Amino acid sequence: MIRKIGVLTSGGDSPGMNAAIRAVTRTAIANGIEVVGIHDGYKGLCEGNFETFTKRSVSDILSRGGTILGSARLPEFKNLEVQEKAVESLKANNIDALVVIGGDGSYRGAKALTDLGINTISLPGTIDNDIQGTDLTIGFDTALNTIVECVDKLRDTSSSHHRASVVEVMGNHCGDLAVLSAISCGAEIVVTPETGYDEEQIMEKLKFLGNRGKNHAIIIVSEKLCDSHALAGKISENTEFDGRSTILGHIQRGGSPSPNDRVLASRMGEKAVDLLTEGVGGHCVILHNGEISSMPIDECLSLPRKKNKAIYRLFDRLV
Ligand code: ADP
Ligand code: F6P
Repeated sequence: MIRKIGVLTSGGDSPGMNAAIRAVTRTAIANGIEVVGIHDGYKGLCEGNFETFTKRSVSDILSRGGTILGSARLPEFKNLEVQEKAVESLKANNIDALVVIGGDGSYRGAKALTDLGINTISLPGTIDNDIQGTDLTIGFDTALNTIVECVDKLRDTSSSHHRASVVEVMGNHCGDLAVLSAISCGAEIVVTPETGYDEEQIMEKLKFLGNRGKNHAIIIVSEKLCDSHALAGKISENTEFDGRSTILGHIQRGGSPSPNDRVLASRMGEKAVDLLTEGVGGHCVILHNGEISSMPIDECLSLPRKKNKAIYRLFDRLV
């Protein structure tokens, strides 16, 4: 029987993490389970940076971006002796089980803790939407909204000055933020890990668009594929467009979570507590076809990343 659970946020933060912390805390307390908030991810877990939570500890956080628990990266958590230290720290505080909110790296830590005897459930907290098995991750919708708001503004000035704006967006190795923002903003070109980076093709496309009378263009590029500033320079050199670049950066990770993210995080937080109460560990919570359920973390991590061909075809058809 579970008496006390811990909750932590790990890896890059995402809007909606607070809503998940709140849902875990309130669902657990309503079920007679004590809750401990663990500050600064696996780092705080190893250091015993714990805070006893009441229902009030999570008041007024639903609408706040970031995470009240703080997040951190602790590369050493891959090592067994560091994981064992974390288990000792949990046992010393009578914490029976844990909820980890983070990305796929955090999932690996959650699985390791389960293997060491502490049932742990992970929730997909990342703006990247790069966790397999779930249709959406917590924070993706808000980040997409932020990108669209920014690109709409860039389009205004880009069109006034007949420019080609290269906009670099986050996503780690997943193109979902890029391709969905490209469709939402009517971008002319999108470059993602799924499309690959082909500079010649970009120049050809811009020349083609210029010949067709287009006098401005938006090129959305996923991070880590090219140097966006250099690409803008090459556009100025090789096409009739004046190239400019904007790296949206960490602005995409902040801000008040959208209602969709708040609801998703709340549903997933509730599910995590239900799973732990049933004695399940080593699972991650997923959203599939509108339903919340779970799958083993191992299975989730082994699923191949698939290109959403229908979305890329839609983009091509709408340009
Ligand atoms: P995210 O969870 O957003 O993918 P990271 O990849 O940085 O972010 O992972 C967050 C943290 O999860 C890492 O700093 C580390 O503490 C832990 N972690 C990452 N990979 C592993 C692993 N293979 N085993 C155990 N813990 C890991
Ligand atoms: O995983 C979220 C994310 O924002 C990625 O999109 C990005 O590649 C990375 O984190 C940036 O990490 P950092 O906060 O360390 O700059």
